[in-house]
Amino acid sequence: MTFTPTSLLITGGAGFIGSSTVRRAVAAGVSKIVVLDALTYAGHRINLGDVMSAVTFVHGNICDAALVNGLFAQHAFDSVIHLAAETHVDRSIESAAEFVQTNVVGTLTLLDASMRAWAAPNANTERRFVHVSTDEVYGSLGPTGHFTESTAYAPNSPYAASKASSDLLVRSFHRTYGLPTVVTNTCNNYGPRQLPEKLIPLMIAHALSGKKLPVYGKGAQVREWLHVDDHADSLWLALTQGAAGESYNFGSGEETDNLRMVERLADTVDEVSGNPKGMSRALITFVEDRKGHDFRYAIDSSKAKAAFGWQPKRTLAHDLRAVVEWYRDNEEWCRLVSSDEHSRFQAAYYKDREGTGGAK
Ligand code: NAD
Ligand code: DAU
Repeated sequence: MTFTPTSLLITGGAGFIGSSTVRRAVAAGVSKIVVLDALTYAGHRINLGDVMSAVTFVHGNICDAALVNGLFAQHAFDSVIHLAAETHVDRSIESAAEFVQTNVVGTLTLLDASMRAWAAPNANTERRFVHVSTDEVYGSLGPTGHFTESTAYAPNSPYAASKASSDLLVRSFHRTYGLPTVVTNTCNNYGPRQLPEKLIPLMIAHALSGKKLPVYGKGAQVREWLHVDDHADSLWLALTQGAAGESYNFGSGEETDNLRMVERLADTVDEVSGNPKGMSRALITFVEDRKGHDFRYAIDSSKAKAAFGWQPKRTLAHDLRAVVEWYRDNEEWCRLVSSDEHSRFQAAYYKDREGTGGAK
């Protein structure tokens, strides 16, 4: 059975994946879309650019119960895609409190509001609450193996622990109150509009401006990379075809270790900028490793493949160059999203790590 959303709340829609998800929902022709976003250092109106006029944008915090309950009353949502979160592992290692507040308390606030709004008397109306989560809740893999939906949760960073906590709250609201929830667990994303504090946009931005490329430890950790627009497609599948109470893993199968990824990005920046070969690779600098650094994540997507025919449309080989070109061509965007807070965090974080890295 396919669910057709008519009044959709998207939280975190001014962020990286949220803005792609808003575009996906607008393209699908949902009649009412409300975006709720606190516009933290990670959220920017500019990310919604062309689709801003197609949505109702609310600048507010998901932890604000009066605001959230009021939005449910005003817009009679039949669906939620919940993406708002604190998302950067390094920030969570520096300070975890905001991660618990937004990711745990904020998720609880949304669950509570949905549960109250969707209680009888309209119990027959179809509804969906999609909670967007991460593969990091499963912990770290060795060189082989994959996470399935039944892999035990073993989060290692404060970020992962806060996401795992929110996933468990979602599970409990389904079991206890019958809330029609769907949880998605997804691998690392790449694409336009990602804040340059995450690996791929940070390396591109640094290489474009001739700054050092800080690789943690020896760069041996492995990540699986999915294009952000494929992630948005997967959330659309989860919303419209996901079964209530289920969780689905979405991966790309495209694994690469960090050093190889950074070398690839450096070479691509040189290609698109007309630099001499090897110029950006020379900027690679090994810095102190991340505390508790998970070695490898890898997703088994068979459940989503069987349920939805899930298959990402984009690949690194075909689409990474366009992503590098996007950052090259959107210098103004990079400047606008580099708030004082963002710049302060970057400067402090990397200053302490210089010169303490492992060797190649
Ligand atoms: P992001 O950091 O780019 O954006 C987060 C958005 O949430 C921002 O617009 C921010 O302003 C908003 N926000 C933060 N706190 C808020 C609050 N208290 N109230 C309202 N809005 C708030 O994040 P992203 O990378 O787009 O990730 C989106 C979701 O996807 C997150 O839940 C994340 O855990 C999950 N996820 C991300 C990845 C990835 O690779 N980036 C992979 C898997 C899952
Ligand atoms: O796996 C999904 C997760 O992917 C999401 O849930 C998170 O929200 C998202 O931030 C991302 O987490 P990671 O920690 O994997 O992403 P990040 O881009 O921060 O780092 C990717 C890898 O690159 C990781 O092994 C650390 C390393 N790294 C990162 C940065 C920023 C470096 O070597 N140097 C860097 O400067």
